[in-house]
Amino acid sequence: MVKPILSLVLLIAAASPTQAQVRTASPDGRNQVTVETHDGRLYYSVQRDGRPLLMPSLLGFEFRAAPPLRDSLRIVDTTRQTVDETWTQPWGEVARVRDHHNELKVDLAETAAPNRRFSVVFRAFDDGLGFRYEVPDQPSLKDFEIQEELTEFSMADDARAWWIPSNRPRLDRSEMLYSSSPVSVIDSIQTPLTMETRDGKSFVVIHEANLVDYARMNLRGARMENRTLHAALAPYADGVKVRGRTPFVTPWRTIQVADRATDLSPSVLGLNLNPPSVIPNTSWIKPMKYVGIWWGMHIGTMTWSSGPKHGATTANTKRYIDFAAANGFGGVLVEGWNVGWDGDWIQNRNAFSFTNAYPDYDLREVARYAHEKGVKIIVHNETSGGIENYERQMDSAFALYHSLGLDAIKSGYVTDLTSAGDSHHGQFMVRHYRHVIEMALKYGIMLDVHEPIHDTGERRTYPNMMSREGARGQEYNAWGGEGGNPPEHETILFFTRMLAGPMDFTPGIFDILRARTGPPRQPWESRVRTTLAKQLALYVVLYSPLQMAADLPENYEHQPAFQFIRDVAVDWDTTRVLEGKIGDYVVVSRRERNGPDWFIGAITDEEARTFDIPLSFLTPGRRYVAEIYADGPGANWATNPLPVAISQRPVTSLTRLHLVLARGGGQAIRIRPAR
Ligand code: NOJ
Ligand code: CA
Repeated sequence: MVKPILSLVLLIAAASPTQAQVRTASPDGRNQVTVETHDGRLYYSVQRDGRPLLMPSLLGFEFRAAPPLRDSLRIVDTTRQTVDETWTQPWGEVARVRDHHNELKVDLAETAAPNRRFSVVFRAFDDGLGFRYEVPDQPSLKDFEIQEELTEFSMADDARAWWIPSNRPRLDRSEMLYSSSPVSVIDSIQTPLTMETRDGKSFVVIHEANLVDYARMNLRGARMENRTLHAALAPYADGVKVRGRTPFVTPWRTIQVADRATDLSPSVLGLNLNPPSVIPNTSWIKPMKYVGIWWGMHIGTMTWSSGPKHGATTANTKRYIDFAAANGFGGVLVEGWNVGWDGDWIQNRNAFSFTNAYPDYDLREVARYAHEKGVKIIVHNETSGGIENYERQMDSAFALYHSLGLDAIKSGYVTDLTSAGDSHHGQFMVRHYRHVIEMALKYGIMLDVHEPIHDTGERRTYPNMMSREGARGQEYNAWGGEGGNPPEHETILFFTRMLAGPMDFTPGIFDILRARTGPPRQPWESRVRTTLAKQLALYVVLYSPLQMAADLPENYEHQPAFQFIRDVAVDWDTTRVLEGKIGDYVVVSRRERNGPDWFIGAITDEEARTFDIPLSFLTPGRRYVAEIYADGPGANWATNPLPVAISQRPVTSLTRLHLVLARGGGQAIRIRPAR
């Protein structure tokens, strides 16, 4: 339940109508935004502690078949208000979220024909800024086609940026490795875009919030010319970005700001810019750990398609259900259960049935058995981007799942463009993903979406939208030819992708050297490039309310380190980032929701590192036991990833723990009250 405990709204007098420059600041006064017109054009700029972070940056639109909304603009009115309220997340990285901001609404009008009107609303928070356009219904602006959103982000500093590209043909997804470069040489990239100013004093993240009926925003640089990034909306096949009708509002453009990288996470700016939950009773929405008929297909020991290696058989699923029940897991994902996987399932996108199972998979019996064992089946819906095919079947499929008590879906969109040639991230797909969330809600279904649109905080309004992929996950460590994810990968993800929201990364691979499938024969062949202890630490570092134990059940047998996966929480009351450097290392501690246990996850890149961690977050005077899973003697990701040293020691809030991480290693710790 979302309950604001304190709500304070103050209306302050409107500014004088003729002002060409207006300002607002965050409640702590440190973040200031200035909005001004200059030669009839509208700009905003951002300062922190009086130092420029963003230089004057253009606002406006270009339309198809209408003059741009950009010129001869005048500020005609302003409205201000202050909000301070705290709300509770039904699940999340933190239980309580404070929304404290100063809002400035700037009303604008064209002084020449067609004399259109619109507003830009700014909200200044201590952790950053959001702004959006609001366009009222008016005779001279009804139906419109946005050719370009002219929003700019003009960086004052040639900050170092960590990014993934957005302009790869046939790769309209987010599953690339990160690059890092000065912002001035950025070409076309995806958000969240994380930047560190050259003096190391500020961290800035550009993203968006509450993406509804609009196109996703990427950013385009003016390569080599300057440090200005331009909003680049994902297009329809004909180049139009957004089709709509007034009145309309855009998503929020967000600029998160922090003094230290460790202050970036957990990021709540985007959540505060989404509407409150529309689900009054969220008791059916349950964070959980799950196992699944999944990794076997990626390493080639099972198939999605029918045949002798078919993974999704009734018997195999029961084996996974038994394993889940015996180890306290909430769910079992089953991929390849439904008709449509035979042949080229990416090409045959319209062949998928979402109700008809393969003959060796008895959907009803599996549902019954899972229910008997207290385990949820996570029903897989791979669409291959066959949106029309999926939308045609969705209602009957979801109704079927609901009738069988199946209340969780993992969906997938392995595709590039839509059948009409529109961007996978354009308005058409934004509408589709939102439609799926609403249909899932109608049938009481939780969602985990792969190949999604980036997370813009939907989970606040729809807590059934739980997790998504939207980055390069563990699966890349299974496939040949690409080398897998490098050891630094997750230390970048934490400060980039994870600022948007939870990720279904699917940690927990224990068979790192692929004893079962044969080790990679060539150095470029994929494998997991971490130590085993780091796989454990990822459960704490990479947040997801649906957290997979991705390996085959047989690979967890007789493994003492598996105890950590059994014990680790998936829902958090409190999160503290203790140490962190983008691309190098992260140490996170989190306290479980509704319980006294703390968990620490520490990961490093290809360098070995040590940390001294004061446990001052523990309750003073209370005695605890730390259960430590560290890289064992001689461990390193490259040649000896498996040794894990498991130990226990008494600790209190006065203890300092000395953490030793191997190259490509990690450490996972559970701290529980002493018995
Ligand atoms: C890609 C997803 O990320 C993966 O988890 C899934 O197994 C395959 N698509 C097949 O749907
Ligand atoms: Ca994927």
